[in-house]
Amino acid sequence: MDNITLIATARFGLELLVKQELLALGYADLQVGNGRVQFPATLADIPLANLWLRTADRVLLKMAEFPTTTFDDLFEQSKALPWEEWITQDGKFTVKATAVKSQLQSERTCQAIVKKAVVERLKTHYHTDWFAETGPEFTIQLSLHHDVALLTLDTSGVGLHKRGYRAEAGEAPLKETLAAALVMLSFWNKERLLLDPLCGSGTILIEAALIGRNMAPGLHRSFAAEQWPVMPTEVWQEARVEAGTAVDHTTPLQLLGYDSDPTSITIAQQNAAKAGVGQDIQFRQKDVRDLWIDQQYGILISNPPYGVRLADYQAMNQIYIALNKIFRKKTGWSVYILTADPQFPHYFKRAQPDRVRKLYNGNIQVNYYQYHGEKPPAL
Ligand SMILES: C[S@@+](CC[C@H](N)C(=O)[O-])C[C@H]1O[C@@H](n2cnc3c(N)ncnc32)[C@H](O)[C@@H]1O
Repeated sequence: MDNITLIATARFGLELLVKQELLALGYADLQVGNGRVQFPATLADIPLANLWLRTADRVLLKMAEFPTTTFDDLFEQSKALPWEEWITQDGKFTVKATAVKSQLQSERTCQAIVKKAVVERLKTHYHTDWFAETGPEFTIQLSLHHDVALLTLDTSGVGLHKRGYRAEAGEAPLKETLAAALVMLSFWNKERLLLDPLCGSGTILIEAALIGRNMAPGLHRSFAAEQWPVMPTEVWQEARVEAGTAVDHTTPLQLLGYDSDPTSITIAQQNAAKAGVGQDIQFRQKDVRDLWIDQQYGILISNPPYGVRLADYQAMNQIYIALNKIFRKKTGWSVYILTADPQFPHYFKRAQPDRVRKLYNGNIQVNYYQYHGEKPPAL
C-alpha cells in the first residue's frame, strides 16, 4: 500500500491552480482532467495534501477506474477490489454515485450495487455476515463518466473549503477555496498591500493572510482519513507539527477590509481571529462611496453584491461608480472583481480588462475581471 494514487478535485476553472499547488508541494507526474488532478503518492501524502491544498475541494484515494456498461459488470469489478485494506470490520461506509453520459444512468441503483459488492467482499474477508458499522467513516464515491467508472475513497470528509474558521457566514460569503483562488490568480504577494472594500465576512483577506503567513489552511480542522486505522497517527502528527513550524510569524502584512455593514465587520474580525490571523487584517466599517485611497500601488480583490431587483441595480451602480472614480487614474493598482454581472466592465472605464476568467461561485457562473496595474518600483 506504499504506492497509492490520489485525486485532488476542484471546481471548473481551478484545475490548473490545483496543479500549480501540487507542483509547489513537490508532486510530479500530475494528470489534469475535468475537475480533478491525479497524482502518484504514498500514505504520508494524504495528510500533506489535505492540510496544504488551498483551492481543491477534496482529496480522494483512487481505488480503480474501468469501463463498464452493465450492473453485473459494475458489481463484479467493484467486488474484485481490496476494500478490506482500508475499510475496517466496524467501518461505517456509504456510497455516493454520480452518472454522466453513461449507459448506467440510475445513480441510486449504481450506489446500491457498489454497496452490495463491497459488503460481499468484506463478508468474505472478515468471515462475517453482520457489520455493526460503529467505527470510522468511509465514503466511497463512484463517478461514472462516458461509461468509465472511477471508484474512490474520500480522505477529506467535510469539503476542504471548510477550514474551521468560519463561525458566522455573513451575507453571500465566498467559498474559502474560491477566495484563495482569487488571491492566487492575482498579482498579490505578501509584500504588497491588499484591499477588499466590500469584504463581507472577510474571506478573501483571511485566505490572503493564510497564504502570506504560509499557514496550512487545514491546520485547524480534522479529516476523515485521520480516523482510519490504516493511517498511523504519527503520520498525521508529523504533518501537523511540520505545518505548525512552517508558519511565518514575522513578515508584516498589509491587508485592509471595509464594509458598510457593521455586522459583517464584526463577523470578519471573529473569523480572522479564529483563523489565527486576527492581528494581520485591519477591518473597518466604511461605505465604498466614502473611500479615499492615497497609496499609489496596491491590489484590490473583491466580489461586489449582485442582485436582480431594481434596488439592487441602483446600489450596484453606485458601487461601480465609486470604484471607477477611485481607481480610474490609479494605474499602480491591480483591480480584480468577481461578479456575475456582465455590465461591470462598462462601468469600470480605466481600460478593457486584461483578462476575464470564467469561474463558478457555487452553481452560479461568474466572471473574474482582471485589470493589471503597474508594478511598484523595486526598492
Ligand atoms: C457579496 S458580499 C461580499 C462577500 C465576501 N466576499 C465574503 O466572502 O463574505 C458584498 C458585501 O458588500 C457590502 N456592501 C454593499 N454595499 C456596500 C457599500 N456601498 N459600501 C461598502 N460595502 C458594501 C455588503 O454589506 C456585503 O457584505
